[in-house]
Amino acid sequence: MTTKRVLTGITTTGTPHLGNYVGAIRPAIAASQQEDTDAYLFLADYHALIKCHDPEQVAQSSREIAATWLALGLDPSQAHFYRQSDLPEIAELCWILTCNAAKGLMNRAHAYKAAVQANEEAGEDPDFAITMGLFSYPVLMAADILIFNAHEVPVGRDQIQHVEMARDIAQRFNHNFAPLFTLPEAVVDDHVAVLQGLDGRKMSKSYGNTIPLFGTAKQLQKGINKIKTNLLEPGEPKDPDTATVFQVWCAFADAEERAQMRQAFAEGIGWGDAKKQLFHKIDEVLAPARDRYNDLMANPQQLEEVLQAGAHKLRPRAADLLAQVRDAVGLRAYR
Ligand code: TRP
Repeated sequence: MTTKRVLTGITTTGTPHLGNYVGAIRPAIAASQQEDTDAYLFLADYHALIKCHDPEQVAQSSREIAATWLALGLDPSQAHFYRQSDLPEIAELCWILTCNAAKGLMNRAHAYKAAVQANEEAGEDPDFAITMGLFSYPVLMAADILIFNAHEVPVGRDQIQHVEMARDIAQRFNHNFAPLFTLPEAVVDDHVAVLQGLDGRKMSKSYGNTIPLFGTAKQLQKGINKIKTNLLEPGEPKDPDTATVFQVWCAFADAEERAQMRQAFAEGIGWGDAKKQLFHKIDEVLAPARDRYNDLMANPQQLEEVLQAGAHKLRPRAADLLAQVRDAVGLRAYR
């Protein structure tokens, strides 16, 4: 029996928030602990360059996100954890695939099309601020996936198309040159919780309604206090199913605690009280991780070592596949 190779990338931009934890980090760490899978989780910092051109910020985000995953329990002995830019083989594979990927396929990528459409709506040139990096982004993603011949790629709905493009690119290469690539499949988990943000919409950086994961306890409390409620007074029964406070509670509480809070809502718990309980619950979960996070941020050398070890283990495999790819396309020593 071959073990399933499961691979996913984390673009290293922005500061992680509670929604990232519940929707992506927690399930990915749980999946990496499964017995029958060979998990690959990497910091997609080449991808970060598409969105961010401030070097300090690129470096800082990458460090914060690496520390976040380790602090929250990702165990580098259970999953390959590495930084994309430590494997230049990925960039080289990306170029070779770029030379074989159809431009017409890239024209259809949602992310690119959305950028063009936004320009048109703003009355700008359709290419305004669109780099070749953004345009060719799906090819880089294909290289990420194909370099380790991943079988499955867990992603959000917005990324399904990119995985299908990777499949397309792989198929074309296999047909034209040599059957070196496994055809990857996107896996979307419909049960993954989508956390609501301060205003009740999905918690997302683009809505500015997030609560950061690793602020101080005080900042966490302040964030929770900003969650939108209604004007019902203490003592008046409240509907848990339309309340963001309850929804967020459920993402952190166990079944018994959920039932208790549901009961408390029916009995008219005050919003202030409910938020206080919510704060304590989340803080209980995050406090130990926050300490580890601060520790890792204060000791970048420790982080660096983990990532170097991750890259060191994988590079020979990447190099081996790349050697076959180079040979297949005719990049060969003279003989
Ligand atoms: N593009 C993905 C995102 O923005 C991140 C990513 C980069 C990725 N390379 C990948 C995901 C390879 C899965 C496989 O979410």
